[in-house]
Amino acid sequence: MTKITKAACIGGGVIGGAWAARFLLAGIDVAMFDPHPEAERIVGEVLANAERAYAMLTMAPLPKKGKLTFVKSIEEAVQGADWIQESVPERVDLKRNVITQIDAAAPPTALIGSSTSGIMPTELQRDMKHPERMFVAHPYNPVYLLPLAELVGGEKTSKATLQDAKAKLAPIGMKGVIINKEIEAFVGDRLLEAVWREGLWLIKDDICDTRNARRRHPLFVRHALGADGHVRDLPYRRRRSRHAPLPRPVRPLPVLAVDQADGCCRSR
Ligand SMILES: NC(=O)c1ccc[n+]([C@@H]2O[C@H](COP(=O)([O-])OP(=O)(O)OC[C@H]3O[C@@H](n4cnc5c(N)ncnc54)[C@H](O)[C@@H]3O)[C@@H](O)[C@H]2O)c1
Repeated sequence: MTKITKAACIGGGVIGGAWAARFLLAGIDVAMFDPHPEAERIVGEVLANAERAYAMLTMAPLPKKGKLTFVKSIEEAVQGADWIQESVPERVDLKRNVITQIDAAAPPTALIGSSTSGIMPTELQRDMKHPERMFVAHPYNPVYLLPLAELVGGEKTSKATLQDAKAKLAPIGMKGVIINKEIEAFVGDRLLEAVWREGLWLIKDDICDTRNARRRHPLFVRHALGADGHVRDLPYRRRRSRHAPLPRPVRPLPVLAVDQADGCCRSR
């Protein structure tokens, strides 16, 4: 079966809410579990943003929107789901625990994707009864607009699972890219990290600062530096606080200064 008929989203923050929007706007019903007291409001805002963005992007008719249901437990969320997406905070113990609960309650053929930005799937599937159907589906923010998901299998993931996941993402407008081997932070974030680090060195070496880099190389700044805010968020550890740390920078990171007068980041 190449179509997702019902999705479950476990975790409804920035990424889980946007996965839900992606599914719903593709006509798929979603059951959402997130214990946050304001989860419904937060997911509702993400969905409203997604609908606004789609209305500006296309005049093509969209399928009838799927139905969103908030439920009280993981067990309830995964009932009847054929794609379950875990998007809880980036902590291996928490994720492993959640994924093991999903595994115990989900139909045995349901696919289980994790949104992790860097934890290896072998770590996450350790305690599962059916680990062959678990993999990383690493998306990019916002998930309802950016069509890429890196698909990474662990030691126990079957090859058929990754092929099935790729086929099931296509009808919701996503390109699943199967990564040959699991590594921390996978491929996309490693490449972005390298460009970002080089950007910091260009500033450190006084070739440019964030202000003129932004004017002259808007794409470079948006993708590599993530706009001024990320550069100001130095040190490196803080910028990646929501993500797994990368193992070891090839080149050490430079120290930069933020000019309080104009908020620009320059070499010290
Ligand atoms: N933010 C990004 O740009 C980005 C991009 C790609 C991947 N990711 C990954 O996606 C995952 C989620 O990140 P985020 O930015 O959405 O974080 P977030 O903090 O915005 O959302 C996490 C959500 O999980 C909920 N949660 C906590 N414990 C839970 C539990 N036991 N069961 C169900 N829900 C629970 C929280 O209430 C919160 O709403 C992380 O693994 C992150 O690395 C993030």
